[in-house]
Order: sequence, then C-alpha cells, then structure tokens
Amino acid sequence: MNISTKLAMCFFAVVLILQLLLMFYLHRNIIDTRINEEFSRLLAYGANHRDVLMDNYSESTIHHIVLMENNNDREVSIINNEGKIIGSSYENNQILDRYIPLALKENVIIDSILVSDYKDSPYIVSVHPYQNGEHGGYVLMFQSTQSINKMINDLTKHFGIAGATSVVIILVVYGILSKILTRPLIHMKKATEKLSKGDFEVTLPHHSKDELGELSVSIQKLAKDLERLKKERNEFLASVSHELSTPLTYLIGYTKVAMRKDLNETERQHYLSIISEEATRMKDLVKNLLDLAKIDENNFTVSKEYFWSQPFLHKIINLVEPSYRQKNLQLTLLNQTNFQICADSLRLQQILLNLLDNAMKYSEENTEIHLEVYQQNNQTVLTVRDQGIGIAPDDIEFIYDRLYRVEKSRSRTYGGSGIGLSVVKKLVEAHGGTIEVESKLGKGTVFTVTI
Ligand SMILES: Nc1ncnc2c1ncn2[C@@H]1O[C@H](COP(=O)(O)OP(=O)(O)OP(=O)(O)O)[C@@H](O)[C@H]1O
Ligand SMILES: [Mg+2]
Repeated sequence: MNISTKLAMCFFAVVLILQLLLMFYLHRNIIDTRINEEFSRLLAYGANHRDVLMDNYSESTIHHIVLMENNNDREVSIINNEGKIIGSSYENNQILDRYIPLALKENVIIDSILVSDYKDSPYIVSVHPYQNGEHGGYVLMFQSTQSINKMINDLTKHFGIAGATSVVIILVVYGILSKILTRPLIHMKKATEKLSKGDFEVTLPHHSKDELGELSVSIQKLAKDLERLKKERNEFLASVSHELSTPLTYLIGYTKVAMRKDLNETERQHYLSIISEEATRMKDLVKNLLDLAKIDENNFTVSKEYFWSQPFLHKIINLVEPSYRQKNLQLTLLNQTNFQICADSLRLQQILLNLLDNAMKYSEENTEIHLEVYQQNNQTVLTVRDQGIGIAPDDIEFIYDRLYRVEKSRSRTYGGSGIGLSVVKKLVEAHGGTIEVESKLGKGTVFTVTI
C-alpha cells in the first residue's frame, strides 16, 4: 500500500465522518425547524378562527371560516362540546371520526397540537377550544403531511447529492494528492535505487520549496558527492599505482645492473645506494599513504603532551642536516628560547620534517631556510621559510590535495609524490590547529602552522 493510498484513506475517513455528522445534524435541524413552523402556522390559523368565532358566533361566521380553508391543503372542522360537527371544510368522515373523540377525550383547555406524527399520519392536527355564551366546542385544524413529507424527501435527496458530490471531490483530491506527493517520492525512490547500483546520473525535478523539494536536492547532492568520491578514488588508485610502479621499475633496473659480474666494487656500491634511496622513498610513500588512510578512517588519535621546544627542534635539525648539507643549504633556527609545547611530539615531528623536506626539495642550492618556533596567545607557531622556487597563486589551493604536485615533471626532478602536505594538513587539523602558506614564484615560500 503506497503512501498516497494511506493518506487518501485517512483523509477520506476523516472527511466522511465529519460530513456525515454535519449532514445528520443539519438534516435533523432543518426538518425540526420546518415542522415547528408548520405547527406554529397551524396553531395561528386555528387561533384566528377561534377568535373570530368567539367574537361573533353565528351560522354565517362558521360558513365563512369553512370557506376560507376550502382552497388549500389545510382543512378546518368546528365541533361542539358533544362532538357534533357544526361546520367543516373536510369531508373525510373516517379521519374526522378518528380525531374528534380524541379532541374530546383529551379535554383540551388551551390551543394545542393534537396529532404531531407527521410521518405516519396523513394530517397533523391542532385543536382550539372556544366558548361563546352557551355555545362551546372546538375548532380543529388539519394540515396535510404530504407537503411536509415531500419537503423532507427533497431535503434528503439534496443531502444525498451533496454527499455524493463531496465523495467525488475527495476522490479528485486523492488524485491530486497522489500526484503532488507520491510522484516526487517515487522519483526519489528510483533515484536512490539507481545510486545504490552505482549509477550516479540522477536528475530529479525539484520545484517545490517544501521538505520534499529539499529531500530531492539532498539526494542530488548525494549523487554528485558519490560520483566525485568514486572519481577521486579511481584517480587516487591510478596515481598510487603509478607512484609505486615508477620506483619499482627503477629498483628492478638497478638491481639487474648491480648484479652484473663485470662491475667493480665502487660501481656496485653506487647502484646499491640508488636502490636503497628508491626503496626508502617507496617506504616513505607507503607510510604516508597508510597515515592518510588511518586519518580518513577516523581511528587516528593525537596524544598531546608537554615537551621542551629546544631539544625537540635540535633533534629534527640533526635529522635533516645531512640532506641539507648535501645540497649546500643553510638551515637556521631563529628563536633559541626554550619553552613548553603542548602537542603530539611524534606527529609534530612528522609535520616539521615534511615542511623542511619540501623547503629543501624546492630550493636552489646555496640558499637559506629559516625555521622559527614561538609562542603566541597560548599557541605554538611554527614557520618554515625558504628562498626557493615558490608556488604559483593558481596552484596554492590544491597543494593540500592528495598526490597533487604543482608540475608533474617536478616530481622526477625533486622526487616528490604529492602526498606530504595532505598528511601535514590532516595532522595539523587533528591537533585542532591551522596551516597557512604564503608564496611568491621564484622568491620563496613560508608555511605557518599554529597549534
Ligand atoms: N616549499 C615549497 N616551495 C615550492 N613548492 C612547494 C613547496 N612545498 C610544496 N610545494 C609544492 O606543493 C606540492 C605538494 O607538496 P607535497 O609535500 O604534498 O608533495 P611532494 O613534496 O611533491 O611529495 P611528498 O611530500 O609526498 O614526497 C609539491 O609537489 C610542490 O610542487
Ligand atoms: Mg613534500
């Protein structure tokens, strides 16, 4: 059972019940009012005749009264106290014989309705006692119930028509509801089914500004995100395989060369050191990839602790010194004050090593690199400033993307795989910190980390 049917059934039941109650109430009320009107009218006519009779009791008055009620659906009969008919516009003796004893038996002293049963009796009857000298008796008024019953039948018929019309209207509303409500839902259901099958090409009409419209916008956004993720994943896998296969090719090539028998020891050492370098690079890449995967999986925690800045920085400088010296680069620590840093020291070391590695890779020989670490507003600020090749403004926003390198050709020259900065950014964020970069092409770059 779909949602529109459920809704329509609820709607139908509620409206129908309300309508029935209302109709029943109205029907009863209208009929009662009409019947009461008939009673009052009959009583008024009867009282009028009686008054005339009491004012002026004579043959001609009686005749006159009878004449007055001759050409309508009312009848009048005037009887005396013994039940004898003195004048009557009514000739049906059967009826008169039935009601006259009733009037006498009731011993009526004020005007009243004698017969009110408009459903089964052919007449409603009112009785009006009169007295004029020694003449006394009753004026009986008869009103045919035919017209009342006709009115009731007409009313019932009209109510029936109104009821049927409203049922039709409800059905139309059901149709419209199902269109407005279910059609977008069905579209969305199909779209999500498509999504789950891996087809992200979904288009949903989203005209309405209600929750349904918002839902379809969300589904469309989800489709786009999924598509982007899938594309990113494929690109990433392609890049990773490429990154891994390049050093492997080198490794295989150089291993074969190193195995040659005709090599002397120095040559063999040279090739072995290249092999070791490439293998280390591969190891670093795989380690970085694993780190990234861990950070993405969210099962990665930083355990912050307090440690002194100077021993920490000197350790790092010692680590990078050899490669800096090889390239004739001058690394200077600007601030020598010792203070306590609150961070995950291993992760912070990873951050700095990456930044210093970049500064080294992307600097020309005989230039300077400045490392500065200081405290500001209870935070630790670390800057790495180089006088290297710099980054073009167009590339800046992408440098933290995985496997992004400013020029693909740079990687062979400088040996990068484009993953270092994405790891750095994630590590900084895991510390609740920020990373900023300022760079001028050909002039140099400054990375500022605040944690
Ligand atoms: N100090 C810098 N000067 C100039 N360009 C830089 C600097 N740091 C990063 N870049 C540019 O940003 C890109 C991304 O840097 P990232 O550290 O992520 O990758 P990588 O150094 O190429 O490789 P990896 O760090 O994985 O070995 C680099 O390829 C480089 O072009
Ligand atoms: Mg790097």
